[in-house]
Amino acid sequence: MNQNPKLKGQAALVTGANSGIGEAVAIAMGNDGANVVVNYVSKPEVAQQVVDKIKAAGGNAIALHADVSKEDQVQAMFQAMYKEFGTIDILVNNAGLQQDAPFENMTLAQWQLVIDVNLTGQFLCAREATREFLRRGMVPERSAALGKIICMSSVHQVIPWAGHVNYATSKGGINLLMQSMAQELAPKKIRINSIAPGAIQTPINRSAWETPEALKSLLTLIPYNRIGQPEDIGKVAVWLASDESDYITGATIFVDGGMTLYPGFSTNG
Ligand code: BGC
Repeated sequence: MNQNPKLKGQAALVTGANSGIGEAVAIAMGNDGANVVVNYVSKPEVAQQVVDKIKAAGGNAIALHADVSKEDQVQAMFQAMYKEFGTIDILVNNAGLQQDAPFENMTLAQWQLVIDVNLTGQFLCAREATREFLRRGMVPERSAALGKIICMSSVHQVIPWAGHVNYATSKGGINLLMQSMAQELAPKKIRINSIAPGAIQTPINRSAWETPEALKSLLTLIPYNRIGQPEDIGKVAVWLASDESDYITGATIFVDGGMTLYPGFSTNG
């Protein structure tokens, strides 16, 4: 546990927290004093390992199952969270997946699954969290905001991505979902922001880093010349959920080693 925990006593729900970026965010928030819900849809034993890691570091966590694209499961998960931790202060809308295919071969099922989980899942969880923030009211000793929502987006909310049309569409949608919610809810003191990771070394993009050739080719897209680590995102998420960023709402923080700087133009154009 950090010496001066930034999220002391706050209840945080991280969706898709049993792997990759979600796991790192859950662990980072646990280390900063939050009571963490580690949401998962499959592999309960792996979610339990994340809970165990948080507890071993002196934090508090539970694992809760829900498919974020299913309204009844989302609502049941939030109720279970309130039973355990009383309320929610921080939602991290992280759960997401890829179903890649050349455009002409993309099935409706591949399109729909990605939109359902990546975009509709963020809507359903954000709506539940917002209802609870409004019901509960301010708790000034915990936070200057009524509640905080972090949407996990991607550099592909701005970078078009051939072969991944469903995924890029979902991330572009997250941007206006986040901004429109932020505009609507700022007067109520709910802060809503996005993190847009670049290439972070996780299972979702294993093929982009697992061979030296793939990694070399990936690094041509990253001016900072290293692949990102899940902890790079965890640190930013803690800060964005804390009162240190209290005047930030409706923003996207790109955590991408410069991937969105059009590195192809550094020697051309
Ligand atoms: C994708 C990864 C990809 C990265 C950079 C992420 O949103 O999930 O597969 O490596 O963007 O292109």
